[in-house]
Amino acid sequence: MNRKDLVSLADLSQEEVFEILETAKTLKLEHKAGARHDVLSGKTLAMVFQKPSLRTRVSFEVGMMELGGRAIYIGPDEIQLGKRETVEDVAIVLSRYVDGIMARVFAHKDILELARFASVPVINGLSDLLHPCQALADLLTVWEKKRRFESLTLAFIGDGNNVAHSLINGCAKVGMAFRIACPKGYEPDDAIVAAARQVGGRVQILRDPVEAATGADVLYADTWASMGQETEAEKRRRAFAGFTIDQRLLDVAANDALILHCLPAHYGEEITYEASRSPGSAIFDQAENRLHAQKAVLALLLR
Ligand code: CP
Ligand code: NVA
Repeated sequence: MNRKDLVSLADLSQEEVFEILETAKTLKLEHKAGARHDVLSGKTLAMVFQKPSLRTRVSFEVGMMELGGRAIYIGPDEIQLGKRETVEDVAIVLSRYVDGIMARVFAHKDILELARFASVPVINGLSDLLHPCQALADLLTVWEKKRRFESLTLAFIGDGNNVAHSLINGCAKVGMAFRIACPKGYEPDDAIVAAARQVGGRVQILRDPVEAATGADVLYADTWASMGQETEAEKRRRAFAGFTIDQRLLDVAANDALILHCLPAHYGEEITYEASRSPGSAIFDQAENRLHAQKAVLALLLR
C-alpha cells in the first residue's frame, strides 16, 4: 500500500481496503497456526490517547508485539495535545523517536494536523468524526461470517456518530448497503453521506428502527452518547428511546442476521444483553478482529 497515513477509509481505494482485509485474514490464520511475523522488528509505535480505551489500546499494543515491534502508551495527562504544546510540535518531535503514531483524539482536525506534520505514519484510533480501525474490524467480521459484501445490507440503529461515519465510508468501498435509523437531529454528517454516494455507496437515512432492521443482514449498535458527550447522556437517552437492538428488531431482520456492536456496550440502552448474546451475535469476534485488522494496517504502513 503506497500511502503514509490511515485517517479515513474515504481516502483509501477499494483495492487498498481489500488489501488490508486480505492481509488481516492471512496474518490471523497464520498467527493462529503458530507462525511468527516479525515484520516490524525494531519498530516503535507511539499511542497517544486523549480518551479512555480498552480495545484500541490493548489491540494496538499486542499487535505491535506480535509483529516484533513495541508500543508506547501516552495517556491523556501526559502530552495534553494542543495545550502543553502544539499538535504540530508533538508531531515533529514524536517523528524523531518513533516509526508510527496512533492517536485517539477529540477534534478530528488534530488527527489531520498530526498527519500533516509527522514524517512517520499516523493512524486514526478514533476522533469525534471517524473511527476507521473499528470499521475495518467490522468489515473483516462481516467478510468472515458472510463471505461476501455485495447484496448485503447493514442497518445501524442509533446515533450518526464517528462509528457510523466510518461504516458509511467502509460500506461504500466494499459494496455493502448502509441504512441508519436515527432520531431527528442525530443524522450522520451530510458531507460524509454525499461523498459516499458519489463513489456509488448506497446510504439510506430512516427514522424507524423496525423499518431499518427489516430484512437487514447486519444489525449494528453503538452507544447513544459518545466519549465527550457525557453531559448530553440524559437528553440522548430520551431522544433514543426505542432505538434498542432487541428481540423485536431481531425478529424482523434476516434469519441469519449478524449482530455487531463496537463496544463498550450499555446493556438495556442501545442493545439488550439478550440480543448481544443471541446466536447471531459476533460482538466478541468483532472485538478480536480489531487486533487482526490493525496488525494488517501496521504491517502495511510501518514496514
Ligand atoms: N471499540 C473501541 O474502540 O473500544 P475502546 O474505546 O475500548 O478502544
Ligand atoms: N462512538 C463511541 C465509540 C467508542 C468506541 C465513542 O466515540 O465514544
